[in-house]
Amino acid sequence: MSDLIVKKVNITREDGQSEYSGPDFIRILICGGTGCNATERTAVKNTLVAEVDKRGLSDKVEIVETGCNGFCDIGPTLIVRPTGIFYVKVKSEDIPELVEEQIINNNPVERLFFEDPVSKKRIAKHQDLVREISSKMTRLISGHNS
Ligand code: FES
Repeated sequence: MSDLIVKKVNITREDGQSEYSGPDFIRILICGGTGCNATERTAVKNTLVAEVDKRGLSDKVEIVETGCNGFCDIGPTLIVRPTGIFYVKVKSEDIPELVEEQIINNNPVERLFFEDPVSKKRIAKHQDLVREISSKMTRLISGHNS
C-alpha cells in the first residue's frame, strides 16, 4: 500500500482554496444533488470518510461533494478522479470493498459500474457513459445553440 501513497502537494490557489495534486492523488466526487440526497447518499459519504480515515488514506484521498452529475435515478453516484471511474447505486456496505479495490489496489469494482439495460455492457467511466447516451440522442430542434 505504501508505494501507492505519494506526498500530498498542497498548492494554494488564487481563491485561497487548497488544491491537492500528485500522480497518485485521488479525488472522490460524491454527488450531493437532490436525487442522490433522496437515497442513502449521506450514509455512503459518512462511511466513505470513515473508511478512508480508518485506513490512513486521508493524505492521498480527498472526498468532495458535488452537484448533480446527470444520473439521478441510479444514485448515489461517485466519480473517482483522475481516472473518471463512475460508480452507481453505491451502498454503505460497498464502501470497504471500494476503498480496498479502487484506492489501494487500483482495481476498479466493475459490479458498481453502470450496466446498459439492453446490451448488459458495463461502462466504467462517466465521460464514456455521457458519450454513449449522447450518441443515441436525436436532435429534434435544429438551429443555432450559441
Ligand atoms: S442528484 Fe446525483 S446524479 Fe443527479
